[in-house]
Amino acid sequence: MTSFWSGYITLLSLGTIASLTWLLFATRRGERKGSTDQTMGHTFDGIEEYDNPLPRWWFMLFLCTVVFAVGYLILYPGLGNWKGKLPGYEDGWTEVHEYEKEMAKANEQYGPLFQKYAAMPVEEVAKDEQALKMGGRIFASTCSVCHGSDAKGAYGFPNLTDNDWLYGGDGETIKTTIMAGRQAAMPAWKDVIGEEGVKNVAAYVRSLSGLKAPEGVEADLAAGQKIFQTNCVACHGPEGKGQQAMGAPNLTDHTWLYGSSFAQVQQTIRYGRNGRMPAHQDFLGNDKVHLVAAYVYSLSNKATEE
Ligand code: HEC
Ligand code: HEC
Repeated sequence: MTSFWSGYITLLSLGTIASLTWLLFATRRGERKGSTDQTMGHTFDGIEEYDNPLPRWWFMLFLCTVVFAVGYLILYPGLGNWKGKLPGYEDGWTEVHEYEKEMAKANEQYGPLFQKYAAMPVEEVAKDEQALKMGGRIFASTCSVCHGSDAKGAYGFPNLTDNDWLYGGDGETIKTTIMAGRQAAMPAWKDVIGEEGVKNVAAYVRSLSGLKAPEGVEADLAAGQKIFQTNCVACHGPEGKGQQAMGAPNLTDHTWLYGSSFAQVQQTIRYGRNGRMPAHQDFLGNDKVHLVAAYVYSLSNKATEE
């Protein structure tokens, strides 16, 4: 804020308080002491007004608001560039400072615990009840909007409770996914293989997991396979089992990120897909990501552990 506007606001605020205080005392000066039956002399629709002083409690209440306002403006940043003198806030109170203070307090309280877990392998942390509770809470507040509160995912958002992984399901890989995020790139094939090609290769891909083309659809599986071998194996592998380094899904299992219907699979191939998992490194930091990674790991490794 420029010093002009700072001064303007300060003057206006303090001026208002000063003049209201003056008004309060000025009107009191001419008042009689006790009650009276005498009226002010004016009537509004037959309603008259006694010429009595303000009740004492009312006057005190008003004084209190003035004292409160002055105290508040000394402690908090309400006057232009004035930062306030609230103890513990050297740079002045703001919501951001308040938040930072609370975070610092929480870190002080939980920091050592976080650090203890962060030093253990994700797979080990996943066996610790307390760590899973903490990780579960982070998941509920940060991840459930996309992956669902039960982590079972939704259309376009992978299920994290099965053992089918786009990028890999060991502790460190899960952690890398959460820390740095992921950007999937399934190209659009419409212009490369044409509408007929999309139909044939879609039928072929679906046949890899035992799905037949719907009634009345004539698809050439051999032609589809040929297209697949030419265009798709680089990412999805020669048998269509996917490749975790690219985040290219296994097309032979029965889990589908974007739906299994003939129409949906064609849509995927025609226009491509670009699922994005956001990075949480800056937002959560290493220690919290470590905990939530352990939580995610535990979801699909419950029964098989030990
Ligand atoms: C804005 C939505 C969004 C949020 C928030 C989000 N994710 Fe994701 N996540 C995705 C998408 C979309 C993918 C799939 C990316 C792709 O298509 O390749 C994904 C992928 C993943 C994967 C990889 C799964 C696999 O099969 O390899 C993991 C693990 C994961 N997310 C965990 C988390 C965790 C833990 C959080 C919370 C800290 C989180 N995600 C928050 C959208 C989100
Ligand atoms: C450059 C690598 C790459 C190539 C080449 C590629 N894909 Fe993909 N494909 C991906 C990735 C990555 C995804 C996951 C997209 C996402 O998570 O958003 C994917 C997803 C898919 C899906 C959706 C699977 C599901 O679970 O919903 C289908 C179907 C598919 N690809 C078929 C094909 C076919 C058919 C071809 C060849 C014509 C092909 N892909 C070529 C990388 C590739």
